[in-house]
Amino acid sequence: MATKIAERDRCVTGVEGLDTILYGGIPRSNTVLLTGSCGTGKTSLALEFLMHGAVKGENSLFVSVTENSEKLLQNIIPYKFFDKSLIKSGRLVFVDMPVMYERLGLTKAELSMEEIELLVNSLASLAKELQAKRLVMDSITSVCYKLKTSEKIRDFILKLSKALSDLGCTSILVGEVTADSTSYSTFGVEEAIADGIILMANMERRGDLLRTLQVIKMRGTMHSRAKYVLDLTPVGVLLVPLLKGGSTG
Ligand SMILES: Nc1ncnc2c1ncn2[C@@H]1O[C@H](COP(=O)(O)OP(=O)(O)OP(=O)(O)O)[C@@H](O)[C@H]1O
Ligand SMILES: [Mg+2]
Repeated sequence: MATKIAERDRCVTGVEGLDTILYGGIPRSNTVLLTGSCGTGKTSLALEFLMHGAVKGENSLFVSVTENSEKLLQNIIPYKFFDKSLIKSGRLVFVDMPVMYERLGLTKAELSMEEIELLVNSLASLAKELQAKRLVMDSITSVCYKLKTSEKIRDFILKLSKALSDLGCTSILVGEVTADSTSYSTFGVEEAIADGIILMANMERRGDLLRTLQVIKMRGTMHSRAKYVLDLTPVGVLLVPLLKGGSTG
C-alpha cells in the first residue's frame, strides 16, 4: 500500500478562488512572493489575506514600505471585508517601515550586513510579540533598493523567512516588476528564495484591460498553473478561469 505523504497544514487565504487553486490554501509558514506590475491588485489581495486571518482570530501584521499606512487604510475602507474593529482589537496591525528605519537608525542609503541583521531581528521580534500568524511586506522591492547587492538581498530574505517560519507565520512579500519584465522579481533573487510565487498581471483583451493571476510555484502543495482573471469587487477579490472570465476565448 502506498504511504500517504503527510499533508502540510494550510493557511486559508479566504480569497475567493485562490484556496481552490492552491488545493486548500498556502502551506503554513511558507514565504510567498506576490509579484506583478502596477495596479494589478497586489495590495488589495494581500490586505484581504490579512483581514481574513484576523477575522479567524489569527493575528496579522502589515508592514508598509511604499505607502503610508494611514493612506492605505483609506483605500480599503470601501471594501465589504474591511472591519475596523480588528484594528482596534489589535488583531490587525499596520507598521510603517520608514518609521522603523528611523527608530533603528537605519538612515543610510545602503544597509550593512550588521544593519540587515538588526532589521530582521526587529521584524521577527515584532511578529513574535504580536504572535502574528500572517505577515505582509508591501513591497519587498522597496526594501531591496536599500540592500542593493544580490548577496545582501539573499541574506535579508533568507533570514527573515526563516525567522517568520519558525514562528509559524505565513508571509506574503509583495514584489514590483515592470510590465515588460521577463523575470518574476526586480533583482532576480527574491523569486529563487521564496517558497511560492503568485504572479499578477495586466492583460489586454478586446480593448479591455484584465487583471490576471497565476500561481507559478508553491512548495508543499499541488496547485493549478492556469491563468485566472482577477476581479476587484466591493466584496473583495474574485478569481475565475481565464477562458470563462475573458468571454469567448
Ligand atoms: N474598492 C475597490 N473596488 C474595485 N476596485 C478597486 C477598489 N479599490 C481599488 N481598486 C482598483 O484597484 C487598483 C489598484 O489595486 P492595488 O492597489 O491593489 O494594486 P497594486 O498592484 O498594489 O498597485 P501598485 O502597483 O500601485 O502598488 C486601482 O487601479 C483601482 O482601480
Ligand atoms: Mg500596491
